[in-house]
Amino acid sequence: ASVVQRLWRGRVSAGMLTPRLQRAMKDYLNANKHHVAYKGHRRPAQSAKELLCQLKAQARLRTVDGSEQPFSALGWAHLVPPVPLEQLHRQKDQSGFKTCAVVTSAGAILHSGLGKEIDTHDAVLRFNAAPTEGYEKDVGNKTTIRIINSQILANPKHRFNTSSLYKNVTLVAWDPAPYAVNLHKWFASPDYNLFGPYVERRKRHPAQPFYVLHPSYVWQLWDVIQGNTQETIQPNPPSSGFIGILLMMVLCEQVHVYEYIPSMRQTDLCHYHERYYDAACTLGAYHPLLYEKSLIQRINTGPESDLKRKGRVTLPGFSTVNC
Ligand code: C5P
Repeated sequence: ASVVQRLWRGRVSAGMLTPRLQRAMKDYLNANKHHVAYKGHRRPAQSAKELLCQLKAQARLRTVDGSEQPFSALGWAHLVPPVPLEQLHRQKDQSGFKTCAVVTSAGAILHSGLGKEIDTHDAVLRFNAAPTEGYEKDVGNKTTIRIINSQILANPKHRFNTSSLYKNVTLVAWDPAPYAVNLHKWFASPDYNLFGPYVERRKRHPAQPFYVLHPSYVWQLWDVIQGNTQETIQPNPPSSGFIGILLMMVLCEQVHVYEYIPSMRQTDLCHYHERYYDAACTLGAYHPLLYEKSLIQRINTGPESDLKRKGRVTLPGFSTVNC
C-alpha cells in the first residue's frame, strides 16, 4: 500500500517515505535547530477519545497578550486586540461557530469541485498566501481567518501591507521560538522578523483582529504529537495546517478539514496555486507532517469514503467533547 493509503487507515512510519525524504528528516533531527529536549511520555496507543481529551486539556489556545516581558514593557497589552481570539466570534451567542472548514493549500484540491461545499460553512480558515481568486470552484471564496507564518510578514515578496489576501479577515501569525520558550530570546531573534510588521499593522488597522500565537502553544501541540507517536518526530514546529485545525477545534462545534490527509487526487504538486512539485509538502521534511496527519486520522469521525473522495476529515469541536 502507498503512504497515502496507509494514512487513510491508520499508523504510518518514516520507513514508508522515499530515501530522499527519510534523509531530509534525519538531517533535521541531527540539526535540532530549536533545541528540542522532549521529557514527556510516549503513549502511542491512546484511544481517539483519550487523544481528544488530551488535546483539549493540553493544547489550550494562547496568544501573545502583552502580560509578559519583553512585550509588557513595550506596551503590547494595549496593542493587541481587546477581545481574546477565543472570544472574538462568540460575543453575541456564546457558542461560537457551528460549522467550520479548514482548507489546506495542497495541490490535490485542484479539480475537486469542493468550493460550494466549503463556502456553506460558518467560518473558513485558509493559510498563508493561498488565494481564492481564480480557484473558487475548487476552494470556495469565503475566508474568515487566515493563519500566516512569519515569512509572510517579513518577506517583501508577499506584499503583506498591500495585498488584499490579508484584508477583511482575522489574522493569526506565528513564528517558532526555541523549545525552552524564552520570550526575550525570541523577540531578539525570531525565525523571521514578524514583530515590526505586526506593530505597524496594529497601529494602522486597529479594527482588524490580528493575533500572534504564543510560542508555548505551538510547542505544546508538538508535545502532543510526539507524546502519541512511537517514532522520534522532527524537532520542528507542527505545520500551519495542524495549528489551524487545532485552532478551529477551539472556535467551532464541528470542523471539516480538506486535503490535509490526501484524497485519491493526491499529487506531488505542492500548492494548488503554484507550479512547484515536491512530495515533502504533503509528507513532510521540516515539519512532522506525516505524524500530524496520522494523529488527525486517529480522531477523524468521518467515513473513509470522505477521505478518498473529498480528502475530508470530520472533527468534533472541543466544546462538544466531554472529558
Ligand atoms: O505550505 P503552507 O504551510 O502554506 O500550506 C498550508 C498547510 O497545508 C500546510 O501547513 C500543511 O499542513 C498543509 N499542506 C498539505 N499538503 C500540501 C501542502 C500543504 O498538507 N501539499
